[in-house]
Amino acid sequence: MSKTSLQPPRGTRDFYPEELRFRNWLFGQWRQTALQFGFEEVDAPILEHAELYMRKAGEEIVEQLYHFHLHGRHLALRSEFTPSLARMVMARQGSLKLPIRWFSIPQCWRYERMSRGRRREHYQWNMDIWGASEVTAEAELMAAIFASLDGMGLASGDVRMRVNHRALLEETLRDGFLKERPEVFEPLCVIIDKIDKIGGVAVAEQLSAPDGAVALPRTAADEVVGRLQVKSLDEAAQSVPDDSPAIADLRRLFDLLDGYGVADRVEFDASVVRGLAYYTGIVFEGFDAAGELRAVCGGGRYDRLAETLGGRPIPAVGFGFGDAVIAELLADRGKLPDLPRRVDAVVYPMSEAERATAQRLARSLRQTGYSVELVLADTKAKRVFSDADKAGAARVYMIGPDEMARDVVKVRDLASREERDEPLPS
Ligand code: HAM
Repeated sequence: MSKTSLQPPRGTRDFYPEELRFRNWLFGQWRQTALQFGFEEVDAPILEHAELYMRKAGEEIVEQLYHFHLHGRHLALRSEFTPSLARMVMARQGSLKLPIRWFSIPQCWRYERMSRGRRREHYQWNMDIWGASEVTAEAELMAAIFASLDGMGLASGDVRMRVNHRALLEETLRDGFLKERPEVFEPLCVIIDKIDKIGGVAVAEQLSAPDGAVALPRTAADEVVGRLQVKSLDEAAQSVPDDSPAIADLRRLFDLLDGYGVADRVEFDASVVRGLAYYTGIVFEGFDAAGELRAVCGGGRYDRLAETLGGRPIPAVGFGFGDAVIAELLADRGKLPDLPRRVDAVVYPMSEAERATAQRLARSLRQTGYSVELVLADTKAKRVFSDADKAGAARVYMIGPDEMARDVVKVRDLASREERDEPLPS
């Protein structure tokens, strides 16, 4: 085998024990928060019907799909969890008691251009609420994100949430070109989403490209980009009618966030629209305060997704929070947890004559809840002690002919090097 073929495919990861310890820790943090908020965990196959992802608004995520035909079926590795979730909810639509609060930690696959915190597979914590139309649901989800970040030991200023409402942009453009061509709204949002990456001028160029999905006159495109610079809700309110539902939702959201004590970590930003076509309402993205990484998390309301997949409309809102970016951020802030390997004890038969007794002891210790490593072959005591120390074990249980004769086991405390006899289990 050549050297490179020992590496996993580009953009994917092997998880050696150290990495898996971190992954388990992170999943534990996410799971704990979701459970504290009363959510139930779900999962779905990593393999999905490809058509579930085939949206036509020009989203990157559709172009990046890993998909293939097999035995007459068009299948895809899931690129996100939301379409699977929609399928699951729709399949039980009649029997589910709404609202439902579900969370998941799926591995997602996207053929991405690689950069820091951007990979071709990542794990993504999702929390979604289906069947709640009020902005109280958005507030609860954002509170959960902050609770999780706090639980990981990050400072309250380390991640800031930017929030907007898609309907706000839609309201400001409704009497203009959207009146004639409402279908361009989704591709418009998909292009606007790139503004942080490519800048306002390039966004205006794409919006006005004559052969593009939106094809606006250049003046209209420049006007749209101009509206994205608005950074305060009061200023945004000036360009829509006084009774704008989007402004009312956003004001209520900030009030609710105040109730959770997190309003100062959230700011209005008209340029946040999100790159997925299905969002219909409030959208939000969490960024590291230093602005060095891609989004830590992102989500929003998607009240029409079930309908576009052929079901009844059900209001829905949720977010995705990836493992790769938060790992970078924790490392940057010196907050990566110290996760040494840990076994409680090593059981050491000094020769094969003591093996059966050692097995019995190991079994009894394991039954009482200890994690126990059993020495598998003839090994010198010095080597056993040093390996046990490296494995993070606190004690070595030694059984030799002398212990067998006295029906005891010698227990060595590795930190103090003290030894004592304990009776063997019957
Ligand atoms: P998304 O913004 O595409 O949303 O992804 C959510 C988060 O997943 C991102 O903020 C980022 O942390 C992580 N992520 C996405 N792609 C990658 C990648 N290639 N490498 C590393 N991390 C990545 C969604 O997927 C929506 N389905 C979220 C959602 C749930 N909306 C409603 N419910």
